[in-house]
Amino acid sequence: MEATPFKICLVNRKGGCGKTGTTHQLSGAFAKMGLRVLLVDMDPQASLTQGFFGPEATEAVPRGRSIVALFDDAYDPDPDEILVPTPCEGITILPGANALDDFNTPRPTEAGPLQTAVKSFLREVEGRFDVVLIDCPPNLHLCSWNALLAADFVMVPIQPEDFGAQGIVYVQRAIDLALQKYNPNLRMLGYLVTLRQKLALHDAYEQQLRSLYGEQVFEMNLTQKKDFKEAISERVPIHFLRPKCAAAKEIGAIAEEILRRIPAARSRPPEFLHFENRVVVQENRKVAS
Ligand SMILES: Nc1ncnc2c1ncn2[C@@H]1O[C@H](COP(=O)(O)OP(=O)(O)OP(=O)(O)O)[C@@H](O)[C@H]1O
Ligand SMILES: [Mg+2]
Repeated sequence: MEATPFKICLVNRKGGCGKTGTTHQLSGAFAKMGLRVLLVDMDPQASLTQGFFGPEATEAVPRGRSIVALFDDAYDPDPDEILVPTPCEGITILPGANALDDFNTPRPTEAGPLQTAVKSFLREVEGRFDVVLIDCPPNLHLCSWNALLAADFVMVPIQPEDFGAQGIVYVQRAIDLALQKYNPNLRMLGYLVTLRQKLALHDAYEQQLRSLYGEQVFEMNLTQKKDFKEAISERVPIHFLRPKCAAAKEIGAIAEEILRRIPAARSRPPEFLHFENRVVVQENRKVAS
């Protein structure tokens, strides 16, 4: 399958909203479409890397053979040394590492050239991959900022409950700043409802999100499913475990929706989101109370 290469970062300041799970499962869906996938593990927790190799092997990756090599002056990273093929055909990973914590500074715009460490590296390996998916930590420090400057598109996974919406404001501000000053090509690909369950609260929250953001919300939701959890514990995306199950079909449909959304998102002018921000916080307070 041919596709114009694209780079998506999955960002949310809220923890546990499904960033890593979605990234992991999407990599399987895209690889099974015949696309060459690069995963970039920008999270010092290195959960995505653990999702393929387990915690011990992840811990054992030397600093200079992980994403830290892009940030630490002590290394001059060779792509062939830091890009690791996973056991899943078509999926390569730039491994994360706990040591990335040393570089994940809270005032990213003061980090000078380190702001574009990932962007520059991805330029070097352009042409080797069709899809780049960047998993971010649950904050908007230098790691997520690197992702926003390196990516073409942002996806924001949102768990449809509690006060998670307040986190959206900060994500929107970061996207705004990236767009206005640093990465004018960045486009919002959409908000993805994740970890969706059959609950009245989730229905209400999803409805609210859709009425506020309309088409910016993915049509498909990612539901909470046992098969996704089992795939994670087997350390492969669901497409490599049970390619015909309902969970595989669901993430496959989300991957297809991404491919459909990209041309429209590419041709849209940049969104500036300042005013919506305040409305969102108010509205979602109502939903959650
Ligand atoms: N669709 C799903 N179905 C079932 N379980 C899921 C699904 N998506 C994620 N999970 C599980 O929910 C938990 C939180 O998900 P995940 O680790 O992807 O969130 P995260 O946003 O990456 O968290 P963090 O902010 O800590 O990086 C994990 O235990 C994960 O295995
Ligand atoms: Mg994560």
